[in-house]
Amino acid sequence: MSSFRPKFWQIPAATEADEQRLPELAAALEGRLKEIAERFPQAVFASSLAVEDMVITDTICRLKLPLRIITLNTGKLNPETAALIAETAARYGIALEVFTPDEAAAVAFEAEFGAAAMYESVELRRRCCHIRKIEPLNRALAGAPAWLTGQRRSQSDTRSELVFEEQDAGRGIAKFNPIFDWEEADIWAYAETHDVPLNALYHQGYPSIGCEPCTRPVKEGENIRAGRWWWESKDSKECGLHK
Ligand code: ADX
Ligand code: SF4
Repeated sequence: MSSFRPKFWQIPAATEADEQRLPELAAALEGRLKEIAERFPQAVFASSLAVEDMVITDTICRLKLPLRIITLNTGKLNPETAALIAETAARYGIALEVFTPDEAAAVAFEAEFGAAAMYESVELRRRCCHIRKIEPLNRALAGAPAWLTGQRRSQSDTRSELVFEEQDAGRGIAKFNPIFDWEEADIWAYAETHDVPLNALYHQGYPSIGCEPCTRPVKEGENIRAGRWWWESKDSKECGLHK
């Protein structure tokens, strides 16, 4: 029987090849995180609680590395994402540091431009991201000697040149992307093997998750970031956390 309902993205099942590649990748990740922790024991890992970030969190916690783990609760997260903050802290027994937007700035922005301002122009969308993500991230990184992200090369064209270690020129500190070379399949193979806590939205067609108003599910075969700021052109689709 044919169906007119579109098929949505689904968590990819790990193949034998993915599972065979995993031990080497996981060992390399351990080595990279140990190196960062030795050079910068107070480095800050920014976790959005995406599956990529759960892979890194799982490794940091398994190795008991002294790195700080922070998350930005923008105040616009889906309830599924917000619930994962407490679940992650409980599962790993860690104090996940939560940074929130400046309340007065967030309220003033919404009073002036409305709750749907992000759809009106790229400029307003970026201002919302600045209030809800960038300024809290700046606070989280104040005084930090280095920071880490869960970005990967194959997530988008704008990330295809990512390297393990770069210089965050704006902040004058080192920035690390310890899974820059992992493919989507590698991430899911790790998540399954290590049973990492997962955002429930991954079971509802969301391969990439940001704030609720700015994220939607994608269809099978679409780019995995197609559901992020879907109304904007491909080139503007970064929130400014990673320049
Ligand atoms: S974004 O720039 O489009 O929003 P994306 O969701 O792909 O970024 O996440 C890339 C990396 O940015 C994550 O692996 C994480 O390191 C960081 N990041 C994104 N959103 C957050 C958040 N809410 N809290 C902490 N870190 C975040
Ligand atoms: Fe605002 Fe959307 Fe940016 Fe979240 S992703 S901070 S809701 S514009």
